[in-house]
Amino acid sequence: MTKPRYIVSLFIILSSIFILSSFCYADGGQKTGNTCVNCHSKLSNSSFVGVQSHAWKGSIHQKHGITCDKCHGGNPAATDKKEAHIGVLSSSNPQSRVYYKNIPSTCGRCHGAEFYKFTQSYHFKKLEATGRGPNCVTCHGSMVTSVLNPDDIAKVCARCHNKRIGVFPYVPQKAKAVLLLLRESKALINADKRLYNPAKGSANASYLQGAQSSLYSAKLEWHRFDLDSIVRHLEQMDNFLRKLSRDISHP
Ligand code: HEC
Ligand code: HEC
Ligand code: HEC
Ligand code: HEC
Ligand code: HEC
Repeated sequence: MTKPRYIVSLFIILSSIFILSSFCYADGGQKTGNTCVNCHSKLSNSSFVGVQSHAWKGSIHQKHGITCDKCHGGNPAATDKKEAHIGVLSSSNPQSRVYYKNIPSTCGRCHGAEFYKFTQSYHFKKLEATGRGPNCVTCHGSMVTSVLNPDDIAKVCARCHNKRIGVFPYVPQKAKAVLLLLRESKALINADKRLYNPAKGSANASYLQGAQSSLYSAKLEWHRFDLDSIVRHLEQMDNFLRKLSRDISHP
């Protein structure tokens, strides 16, 4: 008689832990007592600030506990609005961490590899000199943080790369094709990983590892806008995956 009761109470404990942890997970900031998140989550959807604040919810940054203050500054322990906002500046203020010229270094504190590649690009110099040109949020959004789809990326590039302005007018279509290729490559490698699931230390494991790091390099190269070199890395990845299938059919 006691055994089933143990099981039932164990089940209750487990499920309450699950509910509790998913509650904290979904609530990001509340768990850490972050006052920015607490107060901003109550702001009305009808205000600009409210809409921007709610856009962060559900983002990959929320899931990893990257709260408002990490990008905007301020004091996330202060409950008083004025006190919390010390150091928080509007994105139109050149001193702000989220002023468009400062965005790359703000994101770069955590995404150093992408930032480093970006600083090597022509666009970065242009951004520094004139303030014009794409920065991180052009392609990733400010708080939603995803990557533009291939059609939209072509539109972004076409703002400057077009026949009228005459600076490399082929860029938008090429960027679109390269992004499509990148996405297909990612799907391919994920499918192969599921299919082969190789043992540690096997030849297949090292091919998959090689393919994985080529894909990573391709993603990084994107931040230098060197489309040809992205394609080269993806070809490299493809070569690794081809070896993988050969190895399976002729062990
Ligand atoms: C007690 C409520 C409260 C707290 C705490 C709070 N905010 Fe705000 N915040 C607001 C309100 C309300 C606004 C709308 C403008 C205003 O009234 O100042 C705002 C505006 C903003 C803006 C827009 C500023 C602009 O000039 O466009 C940013 C960015 C911001 N808050 C970030 C933060 C960050 C980061 C924190 C934590 C360090 C924080 N807020 C803490 C209520 C709060
Ligand atoms: C990953 C960095 C990041 C995080 C985290 C983040 N923001 Fe932002 N936020 C930005 C950037 C960058 C902009 C500038 C807008 C642009 O250029 O698109 C911005 C703009 C805003 C604005 C519009 C006002 C302005 O100054 O332009 C508000 C309001 C705002 N954020 C509030 C918040 C709140 C509230 C949180 C937390 C719930 C938050 N943000 C989390 C990066 C971030
Ligand atoms: C305080 C650290 C921090 C800051 C600042 C920050 N991020 Fe992140 N970001 C993270 C973490 C942690 C993750 C989730 C884990 C990962 O993928 O690295 C993440 C994830 C991402 C992803 C998704 C990566 C993926 O694998 O899907 C993108 C894109 C991204 N951030 C862009 C930005 C941009 C753009 C900014 C500036 C507006 C920014 N981040 C600012 C820490 C940060
Ligand atoms: C021209 C568009 C563009 C710009 C500008 C851009 N990125 Fe990216 N970013 C991409 C693409 C495309 C990917 C790869 C997306 C994928 O994996 O599907 C990516 C991937 C990422 C990732 C995830 C890498 C991973 O391992 O999955 C992070 C983090 C990131 N970018 C941060 C940044 C930061 C920080 C900046 C500014 C310094 C920036 N990006 C500027 C297009 C851009
Ligand atoms: C705000 C304007 C602007 C936008 C938006 C823009 N570019 Fe550029 N881009 C330029 C300028 C200006 C040049 C340099 C032309 C020159 O060398 O005279 C350039 C050069 C380039 C080059 C050649 C760089 C080299 O190293 O030779 C590539 C590739 C490129 N851009 C890709 C892109 C992609 C991809 C996008 C879209 C995500 C994009 N650009 C969006 C202004 C822009």
